[in-house]
Amino acid sequence: MNKSNTLNRIGTPLSSSATKVMLLGSGELGKEVIISLQRLGVEVIAVDRYANAPGHQVAHRSYVIDMTDGVALAELINQEKPDLIVPEIEAIATAKLVEMENAGSVRVIPTARAAWLTMDREGIRRLAAEELGVATSPYRFADSLQELKAGCAEIGFPSVVKPVMSSSGKGQSKLNSMDDVEAAWDCAAAGGRVDSGRVIVEGFIDFDYEITLLTVRAIGADGQTHTHFCEPIGHVQVNGDYVESWQPQPMHPGALQKAHDIAKRVTDNLGGLGLFGVELFVKNDIVWFSEVSPRPHDTGMVTMASQEQSEFELHAKAILGLPVNVALRTPAASAVIYGRHDSKAVAFEGVADALQVPGTDIRLFGKPESFARRRMGVALASAADIETARHNAKAAAAKVQPVIPN
Ligand SMILES: Nc1ncnc2c1ncn2[C@@H]1O[C@H](COP(=O)(O)OP(=O)(O)O)[C@@H](O)[C@H]1O
Ligand SMILES: [Mg+2]
Repeated sequence: MNKSNTLNRIGTPLSSSATKVMLLGSGELGKEVIISLQRLGVEVIAVDRYANAPGHQVAHRSYVIDMTDGVALAELINQEKPDLIVPEIEAIATAKLVEMENAGSVRVIPTARAAWLTMDREGIRRLAAEELGVATSPYRFADSLQELKAGCAEIGFPSVVKPVMSSSGKGQSKLNSMDDVEAAWDCAAAGGRVDSGRVIVEGFIDFDYEITLLTVRAIGADGQTHTHFCEPIGHVQVNGDYVESWQPQPMHPGALQKAHDIAKRVTDNLGGLGLFGVELFVKNDIVWFSEVSPRPHDTGMVTMASQEQSEFELHAKAILGLPVNVALRTPAASAVIYGRHDSKAVAFEGVADALQVPGTDIRLFGKPESFARRRMGVALASAADIETARHNAKAAAAKVQPVIPN
């Protein structure tokens, strides 16, 4: 197993020389990372908690395990002996990965510590705000309704309550007064990934716009790790879940500089190689750090239309120790296609109509089960300007109709 920081060669898949990468989590983002790795002749092993996940469908081998089970995870890693482990989701037994990386038996992307710190809101928030001195919303943690009431009183209103372990806005609510605290506590308990009962309350930031700053740590010609910034991605979230994104988001030059500084400080600390999605809130030239994914970001799907190299290709290249190109090719936008039905055999009509919208493309993820609010696909649109791109992406997404065949 190659444990050095770079892989100095790429082998032949399914042979003794294979360069093996294991994806932990194989959703729509993992699927695109896998496709990028496959193009470079990497042998890919896709793991998820359910069968026929999007990434399973394009990998060399696939497994279904509970990735929060450290014993099962270690067993699979020891069996497959991948050169690199690439977490695609947060819900993984990251403490086991830290232990295995410390023992020198695995290399985790970007690092096992980064996967561990970003797995819950507390690790990354305390690192950014308390160790690195980066500006964030004011916050308190609470383990009971009583503690949450005290925390809310200190933070003031409006505020946002979230389970420490959750994603895509699950279990998250906005509070306007003390009257909302109990409902927020119940909502968090129902929506958390693991019912640890722990929540964060954050002061609500009245931002002008929010961005994802895709930040790539990759090896340069000098053999050193360099940090590259993609153009900022603007996005709209509804109930904490991404519905559309676009690139580039125009920014005040001072705000852009601050965004770069924050992203550099946070990603330098997390270390390793690969792409990060740094989430920031912006008001005039003030920038607040919100959170970071040490992996491709859902709002970054727009880069499949906007950049020379998508965020997935950038991640694949960076982790293999290859050079990256973060250049923008054209303004573009993405709009999410939801399942709209609960079904195990949903079908999509109107794809041809959607592709009649100028400059558009469609991705259908192939998820084996549709839910009304599950993200099943995305429409992409490139155009001469952001407004047209956003309009066309939304128009294309609206033309795709999920149906339940009789
Ligand atoms: N403190 C806050 N102030 C204002 N809006 C917030 C705040 N925290 C979260 N949000 C909104 O909710 C979205 C989701 O929150 P986030 O912390 O990123 O959760 P997740 O991990 O589920 O993505 C953010 O992108 C932002 O639109
Ligand atoms: Mg987020």
